[in-house]
Formats: sequence, structure tokens, C-alpha cells
Amino acid sequence: MSRPPLHDRHGAKQPRRFDPAKAARLDDPGRFTYLPRDEVLALLDAPYGACIVDFGAGTGTYAIAIASARPDARVIALDEQPEMLALLRAKPEAARLPNIEAVGTEALGTLRGCADRILALNVLHEVGDAALRELRDLLIFDGRAAFIDWNAAVDRPVGPPAAHVYRVEEARARLERHHFTILGARTLRYHYALIAKR
Ligand SMILES: C[S@@+](CC[C@H](N)C(=O)[O-])C[C@H]1O[C@@H](n2cnc3c(N)ncnc32)[C@H](O)[C@@H]1O
Repeated sequence: MSRPPLHDRHGAKQPRRFDPAKAARLDDPGRFTYLPRDEVLALLDAPYGACIVDFGAGTGTYAIAIASARPDARVIALDEQPEMLALLRAKPEAARLPNIEAVGTEALGTLRGCADRILALNVLHEVGDAALRELRDLLIFDGRAAFIDWNAAVDRPVGPPAAHVYRVEEARARLERHHFTILGARTLRYHYALIAKR
């Protein structure tokens, strides 16, 4: 059976995909105050030498931080928008780090079953169901995905409107409908985090 196109947003809470004109917001260093790199690393809990896919990496703010903190890991920053990948590749840190690669969705086929860990940061609310299935297929048998996204139940001065993102119970229900098993949940300052396995 043929798969629906990956850019199909069916199932996503946010009706439009992220606008590259707003890419500078992703590079705001203030993000690390409410979502510290080390918090994300702890949630990922990646084993030594892990292959970590940052699904919907955007401009690579967190992918670069992770690759820099974990030189043992291979970090694959994946995004569907060439504009985002171009911004990521243009960053001098990305060019300097030998363990990060930026790829488009054409790489999905070769990455299936490769990921020890997946980071999906601020992505669940905007990926369609077809892409969520692709994300799941990237995981190795005992791999884990960390879905960290804006919490609709929290008043926030940043991020998309509450109507465009999930409450943690809604996010959990969507992931379970896609046959993920939820292993853990946390709430952070503006985000929830759900750790899931296939
Ligand atoms: C809100 S941005 C978050 C970027 C990054 N994770 C961060 O937190 O800095 C969402 C990103 O997901 C990407 N994206 C959305 N749907 C995708 C899909 N099906 N496959 C790959 N990337 C996708 C968008 O292009 C965009 O760059």
C-alpha cells in the first residue's frame, strides 16, 4: 500500500506548517532558560554511541547543542523544509561538529530502524499522521522517542496559541493511537515531555 505524502498535515493540531520566516525565533538563546539542554539530554537518556534523530530539527538549535555535548553520538537533524536545513547547515557550529548531519525527508527510507533515540521538540502539534508513522518506523526495536512540546494547559508568553498545541492527555492519546507505548511523562515550565517506545 502506498504511503500518504509526508507533508500531509492530517491529524496535526496546528493547521499550518512552521513558517521559515519565523526561523529566528528558534535561535533565541532564551529558549535554554525554560528548556535547558541538559534537561533534554536527561529525557533522551541516550546510550553511548547512540544514533539520535532530531525529527523536525528546524535550524538545529537543540541538535547542535546535543551533538556538542555528546561527541560519542551520531546526531541526525532531519527536517522537511529545505529552507530550515539551509539555515542549519550555514551555522559555523554545525560545520565544525563532525557528528551532526542535516538531512531532508528523502533520507527517511535509509534511516528506518536506525534510531536509538528520537527527539521531537515542538513538533508533535504540527506533524501529520503519515509523518508520525514514519517517525515511529525510525526507531530500533528498543529505541525511545522523546516528544517534548508546548503544553496547552500552561499560560505561556512564548510559543503557538494554546488552540494549536496539545494538553498532555491529548498528546498521550494521539501517540497511543499510533501504537506508541508511553514509558514516562514529565511537565516542564512550558512543555510536557512524553517518552515513548514503539
Ligand atoms: C516549530 S519547528 C521546531 C524546530 C526544532 N525542533 C526546534 O525546537 O528548534 C518544527 C519543525 O518541524 C519541521 N517539520 C514539520 N513536519 C515535519 C515532517 N513531517 N518531517 C520533517 N520535519 C517536519 C518543520 O519544518 C519545522 O522546522
